[in-house]
Amino acid sequence: MIKKCLFPAAGYGTRFLPATKATPKEMLPVLTKPLIQYGVEEAVEAGLHTMAIITGRGKRAIEDHFDISYELEHQIKGTSKEPLLDEIRSLIGQCTFSYTRQLEMKGLGHAILTGETLIGNEPFAVILADDLCTNDHSPMANNELPITDAKGILSQMIEVYEKYQCSIVAIEEVPMDQTHKYGVIAGKPVDNTTDIFRVTDMVEKPEPKDAPTNMAIIGRYILTPDIFDILRGIQPGKGGEIQITDALLEQAKQGKVIAYKFKGQRFDCGSVDGFVEATNYFYTRSVQK
Ligand code: UTP
Repeated sequence: MIKKCLFPAAGYGTRFLPATKATPKEMLPVLTKPLIQYGVEEAVEAGLHTMAIITGRGKRAIEDHFDISYELEHQIKGTSKEPLLDEIRSLIGQCTFSYTRQLEMKGLGHAILTGETLIGNEPFAVILADDLCTNDHSPMANNELPITDAKGILSQMIEVYEKYQCSIVAIEEVPMDQTHKYGVIAGKPVDNTTDIFRVTDMVEKPEPKDAPTNMAIIGRYILTPDIFDILRGIQPGKGGEIQITDALLEQAKQGKVIAYKFKGQRFDCGSVDGFVEATNYFYTRSVQK
């Protein structure tokens, strides 16, 4: 059973400078909720209650967010504003939060390896909070109300894990001229499905001419714990960083990585365009409710 969710949140978020100079990217709000809270809610919806967060210098606001603020509680107690804290209070009540710092930002693979001390020897989920995912049907698409009981992306992935018992990566098709922003997979459909692939190859941020397909890995993973030993042996790859894609490729060579084309939508909130798109989407949805 998967119980723990790792949140690598140590990156510098340079695309959002100067906003991210003293504020963690993961604390930027879409409407009134910071990105990382959406991620924690997705993990809870998938039945995970142990959050392991990789932070770095300048990221203390994340710890404060998932803690009680006695002064604030005292100030708004009994007022009309008290319900605004209901959601975060409920999350804090249901989950434990543990933190460790990545001392040098040597890439996502290195951040995940830093999390070994919090995860131990068990399979675990990974959420990159700057990929904001939702499986509510878009109210903008056909004027229908959002379907709010649809399964979240991580929930869907856990079902896939339960069947295949190996590492799972979430994928979506991207325009061919965008492949240089992602890890890209090649794979063979399994069990006559159209959304589940056994991964045969992976390339980190390929130019379109070198990309095996347009199926890009997004910021949701389920990893088996042997990934830590593999990461320890990985040499820095593209950009001098230790890439999770390189470690996953080692598992894929043994047939132990499944790619899952999830149902729902993803917003790349690490980019300004994606962030604005997410804000518009959630705003439209909130006023239609
Ligand atoms: P990004 O590639 O989005 O990098 O990392 P970034 O540094 O946060 O953002 P930009 O490109 O400078 O704007 C993907 C995820 O991996 C985490 C980030 O926090 C983000 O959630 N990460 C990346 C780490 O935790 N440590 C690292 O060394 C690198």
